[in-house]
Amino acid sequence: MDFATTSLIDLQTLRADFPALSTPVYDTTVAYLDNAATAQKPRAVIDRISRYYEMENANVHRGVHFMSQLATNAYEGARADIGAFLGVEDVGEIVFTRGTTEAINLVASSWGRMHLHPGANVVVTEMEHHSNIVPWQLICQETGASLRVVRVTDEGEIDYEDYERALAEGAAIVSVVHVSNSLGTINPVKRMIDDAHSMGVPVLVDGAQAVPHGSVDVKALGCDFYCFSSHKLFGPTGVGVLYGRRDLLESMPPWQGGGDMIEEVDFGGTTYNHLPHKFEAGTPHIAGVVGLAAAMEYVQSVGFDAIQRAEADLLAYAVERLGTVEGIRFVGTAERKAPVVSFLVGNTHPYDVGSIIDRLGVAVRTGHHCTQPLMKRLGIPGTVRASMAFYNTRDEIDRLVTGVARASAMLQ
Ligand code: ALA
Repeated sequence: MDFATTSLIDLQTLRADFPALSTPVYDTTVAYLDNAATAQKPRAVIDRISRYYEMENANVHRGVHFMSQLATNAYEGARADIGAFLGVEDVGEIVFTRGTTEAINLVASSWGRMHLHPGANVVVTEMEHHSNIVPWQLICQETGASLRVVRVTDEGEIDYEDYERALAEGAAIVSVVHVSNSLGTINPVKRMIDDAHSMGVPVLVDGAQAVPHGSVDVKALGCDFYCFSSHKLFGPTGVGVLYGRRDLLESMPPWQGGGDMIEEVDFGGTTYNHLPHKFEAGTPHIAGVVGLAAAMEYVQSVGFDAIQRAEADLLAYAVERLGTVEGIRFVGTAERKAPVVSFLVGNTHPYDVGSIIDRLGVAVRTGHHCTQPLMKRLGIPGTVRASMAFYNTRDEIDRLVTGVARASAMLQ
């Protein structure tokens, strides 16, 4: 991914595509700066989901009737489109899950049960989201393996020498976040993957905060697993994607049992469906999957070049303007960042600042952002986090700055 900025592109006419950006809040309209928590949905996605329920709703892979074929074609067509978005031709490598969290749980449970044992290390970093820590802790408890946690610098970057040490100590798998949800740091995942592979270690990348901001080609990256959630990519909630290398997925046991994931069931023993269905037990989130494909189509029509230019401008503007507020302290100043600004104001608590900002109709997230170990490492209770998307405006950032300045004057 390249987040370089060359010029400002005005994408603000596209705001009209997102009905929720006009939501009345108090006596004003929302300034939605909480896109890392979930992004707003364009009309194209909302309409696609409605059309599915109005005209195509039936179960997939189960009927010869016309509507079941329609639903199956929509669902499997979406899988092919989503594969293409990620640079994947083999649709067997694209597994639908409920989201990033479920994808990591799937790999930790299925891959982990096969490969982890006492003495084996799972390498994660201090900046992981809880969803890339707890599933590994659970499987480590079960198998006797250990977590090896790579240090993060004061600026919020991975301490690469510590990463190299972790690999040298012996790793069973590396599981690392592509873009930090709390700080916006873009990690050097390509280099991390290459270094892990040179020692025969597979790598899972948590791409939840990366895919909304830049194109990701998982084959070019060379990762073994990549996962993300639809809802941060302007798609519906409750659905996500796990990309896995075919040979790895083939070798892994099913994770959940049920309908659709079987080939033949017999009380004497059951055989399993081929990929990707082996990992999709039960009726899937069909509307969610077609909605995600519509979201990807929308993003591609806007184009990541334009998105990145707009976001880089917003990030630079937010850092410059917030920097004028008395007592502000930025948390996470990595060289390469997605459009996320985390900060504290003097010694005030992030919740107090967030409440004052909220009264101006500005939506930001406050707290530990599901990264408690990172907050402990940085010695803070949490942060105020403004996270931008291409549809945000400088005016919205000005409203944020007004709120933060007010909090600074009132609370310090
Ligand atoms: N992981 C999401 C966030 O960072 C919910 O806000």
